[in-house]
Amino acid sequence: MTEKKQLKIGGIIDGVGFNYMGWRHPDMPANASENIDYYVQKAKRLEEGKFEMIFLADVSHIGPRMIPHYLSMFEGVSILSALSMVTHSIGLTATIATSYADPFTVARQMASLDKISNGRAGWNAVTSNPGGLANYSRTHLSKADLYPMQNEFLEVVKGLWDSYEEDAFIRDKKSGVFHDPQKMHALNYRGNYFSVDGPLNISPSRQGRPVIFQAGTSSDLMNIASKHADGIFTGFEELEDAKAFSKELKRRVRLEGRSPDDFLIMPGHNPIVGRTEKEAEEKFQELQSLMPIYQIPKPNFFGSAEKVADQVQCWYEAGAMDVLLIRQEHPSGFDDFIELVVPILQDKGIFHKEYESNTLRDNLGLPYPTNRYSIRNHDDLN
Ligand SMILES: Cc1cc2nc3c(=O)[nH]c(=O)nc-3n(C[C@H](O)[C@H](O)[C@H](O)COP(=O)(O)O)c2cc1C
Repeated sequence: MTEKKQLKIGGIIDGVGFNYMGWRHPDMPANASENIDYYVQKAKRLEEGKFEMIFLADVSHIGPRMIPHYLSMFEGVSILSALSMVTHSIGLTATIATSYADPFTVARQMASLDKISNGRAGWNAVTSNPGGLANYSRTHLSKADLYPMQNEFLEVVKGLWDSYEEDAFIRDKKSGVFHDPQKMHALNYRGNYFSVDGPLNISPSRQGRPVIFQAGTSSDLMNIASKHADGIFTGFEELEDAKAFSKELKRRVRLEGRSPDDFLIMPGHNPIVGRTEKEAEEKFQELQSLMPIYQIPKPNFFGSAEKVADQVQCWYEAGAMDVLLIRQEHPSGFDDFIELVVPILQDKGIFHKEYESNTLRDNLGLPYPTNRYSIRNHDDLN
């Protein structure tokens, strides 16, 4: 039997917060969602906490009632490129919706981030909500198109990431040979939604290609994720629901001929932690008092550090969670979790004390992909 992987942790940086009131807190810069210094500080903090990745959610269509964070925020790949220069080991995952973007552009952006960060990029490929279709000149499409289109999108992007085999670039000044054209491959993809020739003009990174995540809960999503993704971001509040989802998804991953150990279930949580239960309660009340017309529910992972660490352990050991994705509900959320909960998880032996590597794939315990053409050439040789 293989040894169970340790728990992994990701931090979702949502600028001023994933609620209506956090921006009013005295410790929160009111413009945090578009403040580079704030993002740099948080990214460094998450790396000090040995988190495996920074994860950025996104939105492609806004209205006046949305949370303040979504009203004025950075675009994900741009900010992560900047953060890659001030961090060394932590992964960098951006959300880009397959319903709105163009696969050639996304393949290129993500591959560039992967090279810029030296193998630390991840992509959260969401379908997103239909509102965005209006911003991207795709109002001719319906909701029923979103998953078939996503499937094609992922086929195209993964195909483009195989454009060059690992050793395609020789760059030998003496002989004048820059690259081996035999190791450069056009994709010539023809689908219902996308028609893409390729090749893509960037070579693979140290981790082969960016890690792919998806977010959602439906059966259609599970089918695509089990084929294409390395992990899935979910929002279940109840342990039993999260467990059932994990079991079903891993079953589908197995049906695709893949090892379920190579697929990560990543529930999102927004813990509020104190040294004591009382301190956590005070933080919760403080947050509520900032804007009493918006009441937030008490988070699932709530209370003293020991209690929250036990809850985390329970979800992890129940098989409901391979990666814990945390958001800050309270502006001190990341600091509290790193100072109070992480050491307990480390003592319990379920969370690492040091980075094992500095690619996202290694840190998440994911296998390196093999270029489809290298496999073919390899087979030809045998
Ligand atoms: C945990 C979670 C996180 C999500 N994050 C995003 C996001 O950052 N941006 C976005 O546009 N949509 C996001 N979505 C929405 C999904 O893309 C999708 O539209 C939604 O889950 C409905 O699809 P489903 O019924 O297949 O789950 C998220 C959904 C879930 C469950």
